[in-house]
Amino acid sequence: MAGASSLRSGPVREVLDRLHAEAARQRLAFLKVVPHFAVGLLRGRRLFDLLTPEVMKDFYIPLSREQGEFLYLTARAIGARRAVEFGTSFGISTIYLGAAVRDNGGGEVIGSEIIESKARVARANLEAAGVAAHAEVRVGDALETLRDLSEPVDLVLLDGWKDLYLPVIELLSPRLRPDAVVLADNIFTFRRSLRPYVDAMQSGELGFASTTLHIADGFEYSVYLGKPS
Ligand SMILES: C[S@@+](CC[C@H](N)C(=O)[O-])C[C@H]1O[C@@H](n2cnc3c(N)ncnc32)[C@H](O)[C@@H]1O
Repeated sequence: MAGASSLRSGPVREVLDRLHAEAARQRLAFLKVVPHFAVGLLRGRRLFDLLTPEVMKDFYIPLSREQGEFLYLTARAIGARRAVEFGTSFGISTIYLGAAVRDNGGGEVIGSEIIESKARVARANLEAAGVAAHAEVRVGDALETLRDLSEPVDLVLLDGWKDLYLPVIELLSPRLRPDAVVLADNIFTFRRSLRPYVDAMQSGELGFASTTLHIADGFEYSVYLGKPS
């Protein structure tokens, strides 16, 4: 499919339009649970500790369209054939990645989701978008399910729970190809929780060059230059 972008039309476009619209409608329902968080926040707890996967099991909390398109274009630009995702939810980002590896000539995206019912819906959405042959969703804690990956990994999306970004990237780094790209979402909302991740990526100590992009909620954009000797 060289030259084509499946984001423009067809089942990928239709399913993404439907899912982004459903996610937008959910914002009201999400606002109704916010007071529960407010009490915890006033008691000094971190937002991140209150938003457990179980509390968020019916919510998409997806990448924005702009982030999804940036993710797709990045995967196209680097010719990604194997992409790995921490945090699949209902599969919006997985569809962008599945479409990109397919449009690159074939490959796979390996997603991970701790809530089984979300993984089931994600698989159905990938099927409806016509990219299921290029996507796998592994159920369980990503620190376990992403242990046995084939190499090389060209691109990683980090969008699961924030305290796990560092351990997940440490797990995946040995599988990364040189110049692999890692994108990590929610840098602004979870500034405090993600500070250790951003510092580690930007310091170079893990072998990355990295900068925070002001797209949506903040996308950390990192390129793997190889483990420093
Ligand atoms: C922000 S959502 C992901 C949204 C998705 N990337 C998209 O754009 O549609 C984060 C997801 O990570 C999942 N999650 C949280 N902790 C996890 C873990 N340890 N392993 C796998 N998935 C996890 C949550 O259940 C939630 O569905």
